[in-house]
Amino acid sequence: MWTSACDATHSSFTATVGVGKATAAAVATDPRLAGRKVKRVAYDQETLAARVAELGAEITAAYPDGDLLVLGLLKGSFIFLSDLVRQIRRPLQINFLIAASYGQSTVSSGNVRLLYDPETQLRGKHILLVEDIVDSGRTLGVLMDMLADRHPKSLSICALLHKRISTHLRYDPKFVGFDAPNEFLVGYGLDHAENFRHLPYIASLAEGPQ
Ligand code: IMP
Ligand code: MG
Repeated sequence: MWTSACDATHSSFTATVGVGKATAAAVATDPRLAGRKVKRVAYDQETLAARVAELGAEITAAYPDGDLLVLGLLKGSFIFLSDLVRQIRRPLQINFLIAASYGQSTVSSGNVRLLYDPETQLRGKHILLVEDIVDSGRTLGVLMDMLADRHPKSLSICALLHKRISTHLRYDPKFVGFDAPNEFLVGYGLDHAENFRHLPYIASLAEGPQ
């Protein structure tokens, strides 16, 4: 079995891409935000779509043969995963894991509990764990240890965003969409206290009382 531990072969972007005036104005009055102010849009819809298409091509090339199971970590990965799998041009299967980590807070508790564990057989398959964002990396560490015990043929991570702030990341994602700013981000699956997952862009929220 191979894993992607500390594999730095991915080609991630470091740039944070803003939006044009028209989009910024639309975001300022976006009814999805319930009046909450956005500090800035980190990744707009077009930027996300373009990078997800590239990731799909990278993943397609990385798995020339074998069974591929794409395992989405819910809930944060659900929009990213649904866009990503449509850009992977080879046979695959999809399942999900549910792990609870942050609760209502924006600070990692380090507590990872599995609330749903798929019964799909992992043995002998290529497993690609799809995560929304790597922050401390604690969630990934716990899940990867658990998945590795099930004897997959390979085990790798695809993360849309990587904050690159963790000093003790045991498994580095093989595929990364963007190196993310160290801000609390919402949208495109990412939540704050379960809100804002449905934003079609990724934004950082303005702090303070709203
Ligand atoms: P880690 O275990 O500290 O790497 O945390 C990973 C999980 O925390 C992600 O899957 C997200 O659910 C959540 N998370 C981390 N950073 C953010 C953020 O900026 N916005 C929203 N959720 C985040
Ligand atoms: Mg979350």
